[in-house]
Amino acid sequence: MTAQTIPVDPFELVVFGGTGDLAYRKLLPALFQRDRAGQIVGPSRILAVSRREMSDDAFRAATREAIERFVAPEERDAQCVDHFLQRVAYATVDGTGEGGWSELRSRLGNDEDFVRAFYLAVNPDLFGPICRNIGKAGLIHDKTRVVIEKPIGKDFDTAQVVNEAVGAVFDEHQIFRIDHYLGKETVQNLMALRFANALLEPLWNAAHIDHVQITVAETIGVEGRSAYYDTAGALRDMVQNHILQLLCLVAMEPPMSMDADAVRDEKLKVLKALQPIGVDNADRLTVRGQYAAGASNGGAVGAYADEIGGETSATETFVSLKAEIANWRWSGVPFYLRTGKRLAARVSEIVVAFRPIPHSIFTKDAGSVVANQLVIRLQPDEGVKLWLMIKDPGPGGMRLKHVPLDMSFAEAFEARNPDAYERLLMDVIRGDQTLFMRRDEVDAAWHWIDPILAAWKAEGEAPKPYTSGTWGPSASVALIERDGRTWHEEAF
Ligand code: BG6
Repeated sequence: MTAQTIPVDPFELVVFGGTGDLAYRKLLPALFQRDRAGQIVGPSRILAVSRREMSDDAFRAATREAIERFVAPEERDAQCVDHFLQRVAYATVDGTGEGGWSELRSRLGNDEDFVRAFYLAVNPDLFGPICRNIGKAGLIHDKTRVVIEKPIGKDFDTAQVVNEAVGAVFDEHQIFRIDHYLGKETVQNLMALRFANALLEPLWNAAHIDHVQITVAETIGVEGRSAYYDTAGALRDMVQNHILQLLCLVAMEPPMSMDADAVRDEKLKVLKALQPIGVDNADRLTVRGQYAAGASNGGAVGAYADEIGGETSATETFVSLKAEIANWRWSGVPFYLRTGKRLAARVSEIVVAFRPIPHSIFTKDAGSVVANQLVIRLQPDEGVKLWLMIKDPGPGGMRLKHVPLDMSFAEAFEARNPDAYERLLMDVIRGDQTLFMRRDEVDAAWHWIDPILAAWKAEGEAPKPYTSGTWGPSASVALIERDGRTWHEEAF
């Protein structure tokens, strides 16, 4: 079956922070792709707003540049770019002050049949004040939605403040909390693998699965985001959201349908069943690291401390931990989670390691029987590998071999792999919240993360240094090897 494009209803999308990095790098290129594909129809418009003065033409020129920079040449021709630019306009609005709101109001249509979405691509401190102003300006109707990005708070209490402020103006069904990992094709494929195949479900439990590993490894450093990153760290930046969301999709019970609340109810149950990690066990179950100088992507790179201006910092750029889910399906099955910057490779993958066979009928000469593994590669080289044992072909008696049943998506399908924001932005317009986080999920995730942060603080130890271009501190290897297991590290 080829890819299908179902047009979305006409919309007005107002992007606060419309001249910021996220808008140029992700949002505008994603909207361009959807326009080019014919999914955006009729008089739909994108209105970028920010405090700076800028004409529509200047903004269109900046958008053209962004498309040239962030969209591959074979995916943009002049005609499509010109067509898209007609949908784009700019208005000067002081999001948290008084200025520009009446102009914004007059530039938006009066037609309540249009979906109206506000995308807040701004610092989270501004979410509340901007929402209040949107409400005050009378810009909310039945088909209005608001989109917010992480970080939603830096702990449970501050997340409450953000959610309360947004929730005072918008109903929960109008609030779209983006976790861009949920928009990745391969992450959605995880749901297809689990729930569109009868084969896996009977094995998907503690009786047959030995453990699960989730790795999100990056080779980049903090890339000029040190002001934010140094107050966040890897646990808040990656684990609280992306990695816990992946864990939920692996571990949740089959939802009744793809309905947003049906899926989110099941994810919430997983988050609530996570065994607490705190002062009593954090030293055993977690490892924190910070990158030191080394090599990455073929060149020498400096330490984290140098990147943030030569100061000493206790912020972790790496974390690995052993999580457990206290329910019938997963009791006793560890979920090893790992993420970090400046690691040996850029790779995000989920490894489901099955239990070994109960008894081998083969002689020693046949070689050892390795347990089956399902490896879901989220990026790059998206695909799925199921590692099985076979007889090594050819004469020479029974020799066993561990081989993958291998499906590379790039080789198997011609369709381009859309960026996560393409799917998520269209879902906002469609009003489909399945791939967005509900408030109680964010709360439950912080509920589990906060005691880990508190334990680290109480411990008062600095994160362990690791050489850039490696897999993190040796303590992370010890974390899993203590249990007689190893991290999966395989070139795809
Ligand atoms: C973001 C984090 O949410 O995800 C970044 O703030 C991280 O620190 C990024 O680099 C990773 O996303 P992706 O899509 O490149 O894997």
